[in-house]
Amino acid sequence: MRFFTAAAFAALVSLASGAALTEVTNFGANPTGAKMFIYVPDQLQSSSPPLLVGLHWCSGSAQAFYSGTQYKTMADKYGYIVIYPSAPTSNVQSCWDVNTEATLTHNAGGDSLAVANMVRYAIATHNVDASRVFVTGHSSGGMMTQNMLGAYPDLFKAGASSAGVPFSCMRGSGYWSDDCARGRLIKSGAEWAAAVKAGYPGYTGPRPKVALYHGTEDDILYFANQAESVKQWTNIHGISDTPVKTESNKPNTNWTKTTYGNGEVVAIRAQGAGHNFDQPTDDILAFFGLDKLPSSSTTTTSTTSTTTRTSTTTTPVTTTTPVTTTTSTTASAQPTGTGVAQRWQQCGGNGYSGPTVCVAGTTCQKLNDWYSQCL
Ligand SMILES: *[C@@H]1O[C@H](CO)[C@@H](O)[C@H](O)[C@H]1NC(C)=O
Repeated sequence: MRFFTAAAFAALVSLASGAALTEVTNFGANPTGAKMFIYVPDQLQSSSPPLLVGLHWCSGSAQAFYSGTQYKTMADKYGYIVIYPSAPTSNVQSCWDVNTEATLTHNAGGDSLAVANMVRYAIATHNVDASRVFVTGHSSGGMMTQNMLGAYPDLFKAGASSAGVPFSCMRGSGYWSDDCARGRLIKSGAEWAAAVKAGYPGYTGPRPKVALYHGTEDDILYFANQAESVKQWTNIHGISDTPVKTESNKPNTNWTKTTYGNGEVVAIRAQGAGHNFDQPTDDILAFFGLDKLPSSSTTTTSTTSTTTRTSTTTTPVTTTTPVTTTTSTTASAQPTGTGVAQRWQQCGGNGYSGPTVCVAGTTCQKLNDWYSQCL
């Protein structure tokens, strides 16, 4: 609170509940039908604020990521804007598409074009500082984070991928590649980097910084993928894939942080963690430089833009469509609510009232206090 002037603090308190998650229905080309939700806090850190994009996991949604992570709370504190995209519900399990040529290529379509256009919309409509745009996500959102960094390096200053895979790892797989998921796709840094360069041919501008968080016991997207991502992004940055610094117990007990080059790439080994773990919000925001207000900051009260204000949901979406049988990850993405949660679906968390029993072959695993998922 010391960041705010007394007057601004009074305004902050009085407006504390004014901001809401808001859908924007017309943000530009959107060939796949992704949805855009935006959170503009009542107090922005400047008239040209930074922007964070938060990408959900499979069977997640903008609302799930909004209520299942701390980025909104921190946006209230540090005055940045957050975009929460929702993957098309026609995608398998509402996962992000990270396998098609369109999504892996700059301005070629796919979900990545939708997310890129959400960013462009926010820059134009909310006067976002285009040099301070960041992206993060977990699981499918972690994969999509690396997809965005590869296909749209011009838009993002940095990205933080947790439980993700390298850019192009799922390419051509028809949504899911076991070889990629299980960390059996081993390539050289040059090979991985060539795929990134092909994502935006001719691009010669700066490349985003990359932070990679991964659980050593991940049994969905195996830990070996982190090493492949390190090779890919260090090669893109032209730096060695031998760390220059190794820190124990950072950012959490038993975790290890390794730094490459001048910090263009960092990899965090989450010792003992499985696929689901709480994204270390403070560490991610510090990596982005979003954990503080500018020293000369005078907070700016945000103005209502031309976006369509629609009703907001603060609890993750659940539905009541019954499902007869599905055990395959490539099965229909029809959710259920009749007592059994399907693979990838929510099965618990504060404020959640849907099914808590997971379909056979999966177990309910806690992501954080607000979200548990069948895996
Ligand atoms: C850290 O690792 C040690 C040794 O494996 C273990 O006993 C301890 O419980 C771990 N602590 C945490 C917080 O994970």
